[in-house]
Amino acid sequence: MVALVDSHCHLTWPSFDSDRAEVIARAQAEGVTRLVTIGTDLETSRQCVALAAEYAGVYAAAGIHPNDLGAGVTPDDLADLARLAAQPSVVAIGEIGLDYYWERTPHPVQQAAFEAQLTLAAALGKPVIIHDRDAHADVMATLRAWVHADATRRSPLAARRFWGVLHSFSGDLAQAQEALAWPFLLSFGGPITFKNGQALHALVTQLPLDRLLLETDAPFLTPHPRRGQRNEPAHVTLVAAALARLRQQPLAEV
Ligand code: NI
Repeated sequence: MVALVDSHCHLTWPSFDSDRAEVIARAQAEGVTRLVTIGTDLETSRQCVALAAEYAGVYAAAGIHPNDLGAGVTPDDLADLARLAAQPSVVAIGEIGLDYYWERTPHPVQQAAFEAQLTLAAALGKPVIIHDRDAHADVMATLRAWVHADATRRSPLAARRFWGVLHSFSGDLAQAQEALAWPFLLSFGGPITFKNGQALHALVTQLPLDRLLLETDAPFLTPHPRRGQRNEPAHVTLVAAALARLRQQPLAEV
């Protein structure tokens, strides 16, 4: 069996409340040996850390999602995040970013929270997990400035091989290439299995395999042929199979 990582799932979501242990066991039975469960606010970030303590192979990310900002990120929130991120199971700050699709929070509030959490990540030396929905230009500009800032370049992050990941990447080839140079990783999930995903299908054949991550974003973005059902980390096997098929490479290599 091929060993896989689900680099992005939300195990704290209420739709897993009735069978979370079974969901994790099912993933591990399918060869998904490591799961990264991602916080979207302080409470779910705390719950992610607790899950990582409870289950072998589960790791956490702590961050405040642009759709969960409320009035914005306070200094107290950032201090809480920093304390959480000090836990060894917390492998990244995320998910953070900009969401101009749902428009739950005014753009300046999103931008300020995004920048504050990027600054925190650099200070802590933790890579970032980026959410970008219909906000490519502003996300890229913000990350470009952060990557090139002296404070980032002199931070503990600079010693790391990769500084972050653009999760469920939906940009174009030029944006992908810029992110790879920063140096970021790109993560792909259910959308690469969708029949109408031609642009994405072409894109994933043009990127270096060793810079790609697989994810489910469970319980969201369920891959074909399970669309319409709740997504879960075991389905990262379907994403891996789609990537292997699109790239015409053996699954084991992928
Ligand atoms: Ni997510």
